[in-house]
Amino acid sequence: MVKPSQENEKILEEILNIDPQEAKPKSETVGEPQGIKTKESEINFNILPEELEEYLNKYVIGQEEAIEIIATKVCTHFNRMKIEKSIPEDQKILGNIKSNMLLIGPTGVGKTYIIKLIAKKIGVPFVKADATKFSETGYVGGDVEDLVRELVHEADGDISKAEYGIIYIDEIDKIASSGNITGPDVSRTGVQRNLLKLMEDSDVDLKTPHDLASQVEAAMEAQRTGKVTRKKINTKNILFIVSGAFSGLEEIISKRLNMQSIGFDKTRKNFSTTQDILKNLKTEDLIKFGFESEFVGRLPVHVILRDLDIEGLYKILKNKYSTVVLGKKMDFKSYGIDLEFTDEALMELAKRAYNEKTGARGLLTVFERALIKFEKKLPSTGVKKLLVNMNLLNNPEEVLEKLILEDGIKKFQKEFLIDHGIYLNFDEGAISKLADISRSTGQKVKDICNELFGDYFHGIRLMKLENFTIPTEAVDNPKGFMDDFIKRNYIKQ
Ligand SMILES: Nc1ncnc2c1ncn2[C@@H]1O[C@H](COP(=O)(O)OP(=O)(O)OP(=O)(O)O)[C@@H](O)[C@H]1O
Ligand SMILES: [Mg+2]
Repeated sequence: MVKPSQENEKILEEILNIDPQEAKPKSETVGEPQGIKTKESEINFNILPEELEEYLNKYVIGQEEAIEIIATKVCTHFNRMKIEKSIPEDQKILGNIKSNMLLIGPTGVGKTYIIKLIAKKIGVPFVKADATKFSETGYVGGDVEDLVRELVHEADGDISKAEYGIIYIDEIDKIASSGNITGPDVSRTGVQRNLLKLMEDSDVDLKTPHDLASQVEAAMEAQRTGKVTRKKINTKNILFIVSGAFSGLEEIISKRLNMQSIGFDKTRKNFSTTQDILKNLKTEDLIKFGFESEFVGRLPVHVILRDLDIEGLYKILKNKYSTVVLGKKMDFKSYGIDLEFTDEALMELAKRAYNEKTGARGLLTVFERALIKFEKKLPSTGVKKLLVNMNLLNNPEEVLEKLILEDGIKKFQKEFLIDHGIYLNFDEGAISKLADISRSTGQKVKDICNELFGDYFHGIRLMKLENFTIPTEAVDNPKGFMDDFIKRNYIKQ
């Protein structure tokens, strides 16, 4: 393995914030290739489990138990690395097992979200990939070692920083073998083997002959430091977090627990029972699921994430850090429209999202479904505010039609006022008739109004009026109505 250079060690101490008094002199540091300069790093290795837990709970809803474990193990991992730096080489524990983690939970409940938040908070380089994109040979998809090289890329070519990164691999359940020995399973097992090498302690070549990007990376590093770069990156301190939905795992566990298969009564299979069963997870269940024992052996921390219920989804929407509501507000704001939601509407959206069975992802789906027509039509109107309430959710077409109608009328009123100094109003019956005409002819309300009442200013001026309410009957017979009106009132005057 590659030992960091003295200079590098010094810099790492700075990053790791080790008190020079505490740091014992290192007798065994070996002069590997010199000159990896780590720039002033923002890596925050001083963070404590409860601090990280509190931070995560601000953003993530309903995963308190999972967060407790994840926050603790991540902090311990980084703090352990910090302390290891101060232990002389000859006193270091050999064959240390890292806190690599396995996250199990259904789709859209926060697995990726939690890890992304952590990487951002700690400021370590972070790489995410799907296990399905790898093949044993690296021909089809990628080579698992590419992940390590990507970390260097994420660390702007800073190898030392990359060696303290987080690699997150999703859909890990897809590389479990299903028990067959031929076909894709051979490759899946191969990917597991390749991964487990990395998960422990191995050196990865920074440059690959076929990988132009890594060559460029190396060149950049050389340019930056002015020195020849180290060619390998060691994975000893890289934290690996893998995740998946693991459907079918609860059956394996319940079988082992000698329970009746939970499949016997589908109606009773609610999320709490699935959760309760998963809590009994043992390594042997994962092996049965199709993982090599060596592979699961390198994932000592198991975390179960909960399914989100309606209340949880509602809380996500009410959370001031939630990107779902903020994102949708931004979508509308980009057209100058202020979007507001009533609590009742948010609860209704949470209910609809729950039925999607895709966790918090369902929220995005139902938001799009409920608002897409408004997002398309309202930007071409003068509507500046949209209140999403139960009426809008239950009668979206009517509400949208009404908004467009009112907007058309407003536009006509505005122009009429500007052109003639007269404020025209419409009674309810007139408005509803205008809506009927618009619906049957497909014409815009403003154009209809112009056609019907565009010359009303003559008569109204004659009456010396500054405002005038158009009644229902005027829509049927605009000219006749105005003639009548003038006759009746001009005489009075
Ligand atoms: N528990 C939660 N609290 C708050 N927001 C959440 C939660 N779970 C998911 N979200 C929101 O939903 C988005 C998608 O979730 P995420 O990517 O974490 O899903 P996942 O669990 O990794 O699912 P998959 O198995 O499909 O990858 C997140 O970016 C976040 O905005
Ligand atoms: Mg994910």
